[in-house]
Amino acid sequence: MADYYPTETIDEVTKKYHWVNGLDEYLKHTKHPLFTKFTALRNAIFYGNPYKIKELVLDEIGRGTTTQSEEFINIILHGHIEWTQWLTHKKLINYFAHCLDIDLLKALNDWHDRYGGDVININDHFSRGQVQSKLWMLNELEKIVEEKEMGNVLMYGGWYNTFAYFLFERFNIKQLYSLDMDPECWEIADNFNAKQCYKEAWRFKAATVDVNKLEWKDRTVTFDVPRPNMSATPITFKPNIVINTSCEHMTDDWFKNLPEGTPVCLQTNDYFENDQHTNCVKDLEEAKKKYKFTDLAYAGELKTFLYKRFTLIGIV
Ligand SMILES: C[S@@+](CC[C@H](N)C(=O)[O-])C[C@H]1O[C@@H](n2cnc3c(N)ncnc32)[C@H](O)[C@@H]1O
Repeated sequence: MADYYPTETIDEVTKKYHWVNGLDEYLKHTKHPLFTKFTALRNAIFYGNPYKIKELVLDEIGRGTTTQSEEFINIILHGHIEWTQWLTHKKLINYFAHCLDIDLLKALNDWHDRYGGDVININDHFSRGQVQSKLWMLNELEKIVEEKEMGNVLMYGGWYNTFAYFLFERFNIKQLYSLDMDPECWEIADNFNAKQCYKEAWRFKAATVDVNKLEWKDRTVTFDVPRPNMSATPITFKPNIVINTSCEHMTDDWFKNLPEGTPVCLQTNDYFENDQHTNCVKDLEEAKKKYKFTDLAYAGELKTFLYKRFTLIGIV
């Protein structure tokens, strides 16, 4: 396939838009009925496959001319008409969302329209390693959580919480609060999870909290929840599980402060080279020593392109 485009075009496009790899993982993993169509798109746009290009052009003819037709044809043929320089994340996501009726893509398209460019880097959230490690963790959780009833979920270091999308898709969740100490995160997270946040009355809600300073009382926590253009509101929440996939970014105080008997699912890694990682572990054994569970139901590791991820699930 690589014969159709000059190698530098393929490299440039695949490296620059590697969120498509995360999407590939997700569609493969969920055995999505549109996976074949997605692969056709990928082979046309990333590898210049002429048969797939023909298929996409015919699709556009079938849909009829719109104000976007010229842009879509430019995207389909970019490697042949020296248009690659004009490709952007926004244009590609919009085109993928136009061709594929996939909810995740629609959420991504709306979110990227709002925050893309300066604020978010979509590659950080949908790299192959990022998606693989989250789906792997969900597979293990699925074996442990009875009847997929997760109840109330408290996420620590939730960031922009693109991960919650997968959780809502796979589990029955009563309510999920996503806590991050960075005040820039909550609004962006709420918007990615707009369906559960706004349409479903805060079934998802993000807040600005330093999780190392959370105080527990009777297995319950209280924190302030910010609202757009309004004062914050205090919330009292009793979680059925605490999930933290950002352990490498914080000290272990959050873990030490958890009440005995709390179900926890955590991820950390051995990616010491990343400047933002202040608390990595060298291997799974070190992770198990650092985070001591009274009943450890799962401990495992996943090798990704740059580093190893470790997952622990159990009761503290
Ligand atoms: C950049 S994300 C990385 C996500 C993680 N590697 C993953 O894949 O899920 C880490 C987040 O942890 C947050 N964080 C770090 N220390 C924290 C703390 N004490 N309380 C709450 N959030 C914290 C940061 O603000 C950041 O948004």
